[in-house]
Amino acid sequence: MESSGRTVGVIGLGYVGLPLLLAFREAGLSVTGVDIDPEKIRLLEAGETYLSHIPADRIRRVLSTDCILTTQMEALNQVEAVVIAVPTPLTDVMTPDLSFIEDTAVALGPHLREGQLISLESTTYPGTTREVLIPRLEAVSGLRVGTDFLVAFSPERVDPGQADHDITEVPKLVSGYDEQSLQRALDLYSTIVPEVVPCSGLEVAETAKILENLYRAVNIALVNEVKMLTDRMDLDIWEIIDAAGTKPFGFQAFYPGPGLGGHCLPIDPFYLNWRAKTKYDFEMRFVELAGQINTAMPAYVVERTRQALQDDGAELKGGEVLILGMSYKKDISDIRESPGLELMSLFEDKEGAVVSYHDPHVPRLPHTRKFPQFAGRESVSFDGPNLAAADVVIIVTDHTLIDYELVGSQAALIVDTRNAMKEVTAPAARIIKA
Ligand SMILES: NC(=O)c1ccc[n+]([C@@H]2O[C@H](COP(=O)([O-])OP(=O)(O)OC[C@H]3O[C@@H](n4cnc5c(N)ncnc54)[C@H](O)[C@@H]3O)[C@@H](O)[C@H]2O)c1
Repeated sequence: MESSGRTVGVIGLGYVGLPLLLAFREAGLSVTGVDIDPEKIRLLEAGETYLSHIPADRIRRVLSTDCILTTQMEALNQVEAVVIAVPTPLTDVMTPDLSFIEDTAVALGPHLREGQLISLESTTYPGTTREVLIPRLEAVSGLRVGTDFLVAFSPERVDPGQADHDITEVPKLVSGYDEQSLQRALDLYSTIVPEVVPCSGLEVAETAKILENLYRAVNIALVNEVKMLTDRMDLDIWEIIDAAGTKPFGFQAFYPGPGLGGHCLPIDPFYLNWRAKTKYDFEMRFVELAGQINTAMPAYVVERTRQALQDDGAELKGGEVLILGMSYKKDISDIRESPGLELMSLFEDKEGAVVSYHDPHVPRLPHTRKFPQFAGRESVSFDGPNLAAADVVIIVTDHTLIDYELVGSQAALIVDTRNAMKEVTAPAARIIKA
């Protein structure tokens, strides 16, 4: 791979940072990838992958030359620009946890050098770059933003696992602390995306990113609410959405599901709400309401399952429940905030059912803060006997790798939260959409 002589570093090599590192390298830049997790660095250096939708052969091919992989921030002293893609979760009391950004700024500060561009990509509330990142970088480095170094905010729009939304094909919002920062950032990102969209200020880009996610969260909540009504009316929400979707303007289809998951939709709107409340004395009712509806969806799926079993004269307590799909989204391995975990807990811990799961992307459940009791539990094999043994099969995530014909022919009762059975003709199983 040719090298352009340009250099960039990426801090945080997760769902956002690793694709960015690969894209910059593929565009001919020399790259330095830094992650606090030595296991990620070890795997990348060995040419292996830890994200199931990014194949190891791409990592071997792309990162074998002009690439430094390290846990040490000092390696970034040599690069022209540094992109930060560290997590921005919520605390236990649903307030922003900016500790990852703060720690990164403090660790990077001593290695900052004059003329460098630092670009934050983590999703966060408006004001973070100016009020949290910049002061720490300045304090630790002794350098001044605008004079000695440049700062940008450019939110990531990666859609993990969805090949048609590759980051190198999606326009990218770019904002800067000042005009020089903006121009340098536009120049940097132009190397990897077809269109850069300048924003007039850091807070504009920060807010735009959250608006994108809030828009999805609210519309999913809306369609989840309509679904709960159409279930009572004995109408099929999926058919209704398809029908409405034939309107060529003024309607965009969103689909119901068992609840929100991942590191974006269940979290980001609360960042904005927190900022609205604490700084502007403003309550975002849409955020609250969407949060309430989406959070209640796993319990709704449990109720639908209970009713379906009762109709068959069976009980949830002591029944065998097989969950298909544990990651929060199709064709990836990310289980953060996944409704699959919530459902597993509700069925097992609350209802006393016997729960197993199958997920081709999640062979074993990692430790999670909310559900430590499931750490180490393994995906059962996907086969006829396991499907037939379950009193009910719950489709939580519609992975492409799952053979839905087999599910339809072997399972007795299916609760389908994703309309995954739509293509299956004449299934033997009774199917409840939930
Ligand atoms: N996952 C998505 O689909 C997505 C999409 C758009 C935006 N985002 C946003 O991007 C940001 C990152 O999300 P993600 O999904 O990539 O998270 P992730 O957990 O997959 O990756 C973050 C990485 O940062 C590393 N890290 C944490 N602290 C560090 C430090 N001090 N120094 C170096 N490395 C450190 C972690 O080890 C991890 O590998 C978040 O703000 C998220 O909201 C995520």
